[in-house]
Amino acid sequence: MKGLILSGGKGTRLRPLTHTRAKQLVPIANKANIDYVVEDIVRAGVTDIGVVISPETGEEVKHHLGDGSRFGAKLSYIPQDRPGGLAHAVKISQPFLDNDPFIMYLGDNLLDGGIEHMLETFNKGGVEACILLTKVSNPSSFGVAVRNEAGQIERLVEKPKEFISDLALVGVYLFTPRIHDIIANLKPSARGELEITEAIQNLLEAGFVVNAEEVRGYWKDTGNAADLLDANRLVLSRIQRNILGLVETSEIVGEVQLALGATVRNSSIRGPVSIAAGAVIEDSYIGPYTSIGENARVIRSEIEYSIMMPGATLENLEKRLDSSILGEEAAIIGESHKRNTTQFFLGDRSTVKL
Ligand code: TTP
Repeated sequence: MKGLILSGGKGTRLRPLTHTRAKQLVPIANKANIDYVVEDIVRAGVTDIGVVISPETGEEVKHHLGDGSRFGAKLSYIPQDRPGGLAHAVKISQPFLDNDPFIMYLGDNLLDGGIEHMLETFNKGGVEACILLTKVSNPSSFGVAVRNEAGQIERLVEKPKEFISDLALVGVYLFTPRIHDIIANLKPSARGELEITEAIQNLLEAGFVVNAEEVRGYWKDTGNAADLLDANRLVLSRIQRNILGLVETSEIVGEVQLALGATVRNSSIRGPVSIAAGAVIEDSYIGPYTSIGENARVIRSEIEYSIMMPGATLENLEKRLDSSILGEEAAIIGESHKRNTTQFFLGDRSTVKL
């Protein structure tokens, strides 16, 4: 069994962040999205992994992941000259995949339940593909699957206009090498891509069995800003308190990870929050579900439910920042600072007039 991580694509939905960075490298709780993907595949026992990369961001992805030894994996890089679609990515990876079955995992997807359960069913044999499904409230935006009573897939429809199922395909697929024959006969879709949904539908029409498993835990496609913040929330909701950095006259409540080399002074931190090495928090408030990147600085400011990437700065903000993403070295600097919150500990029946 081999692994195939798709880390090419355009990343248009995450612009402007993706003008300067591969979207798969966007940090979630201070760890690149693609790191979670590699870890998931390795945890399932697969260590020979190909990474599909684009001309624009390929070098950056390569530089970040290296040869894979820090994950206990062996990584090979497969350049894709254009974002020709998920099935196109499989097509160009055929020399690497050879005649092995493989896991295909989209590099901007985040799963919490792992993929071992998919492999268990697939390894029993008799199926040519296994897909991962999750219930969604807006099925018309996804590829959706219709299952029969035995749980096997009957058909797949890309972005159905009329309701046929609320089970959407998410970004993990298992295939036997038979998919290569199907993809060899695939024509580009209306949007000019070789579609993996269509390839799987063609497998079904050729009489092969496709299985499905449902997501355990959560699944997120981190391809847009709101989902990225939600993914950050989901990962942070599982962290545990670990204070290694320097804390001076500050209040740190709940699940907070403060890396060695980070400093918190005269501030209040309400977890879950992750603060990376070299970050400095001074005279500030950091609220729940916030990730502060390496060497970022928050000075006389307040922020919550947000992501600050490495080297980003907040200084002298009058308003609390909420639901925000600051790219690397981005800065918001106010002229002065007035605190926006006041604190009371009022006894019964007290009155405060403001
Ligand atoms: P998508 O999110 O479907 O496409 P995209 O990266 O072009 O993003 P956007 O919609 O914001 O423009 O891609 C899913 C994943 O697959 C993502 O990690 C990029 C990767 N991918 C490839 O590696 N090659 C491709 O040809 C395509 C279409 C995507």
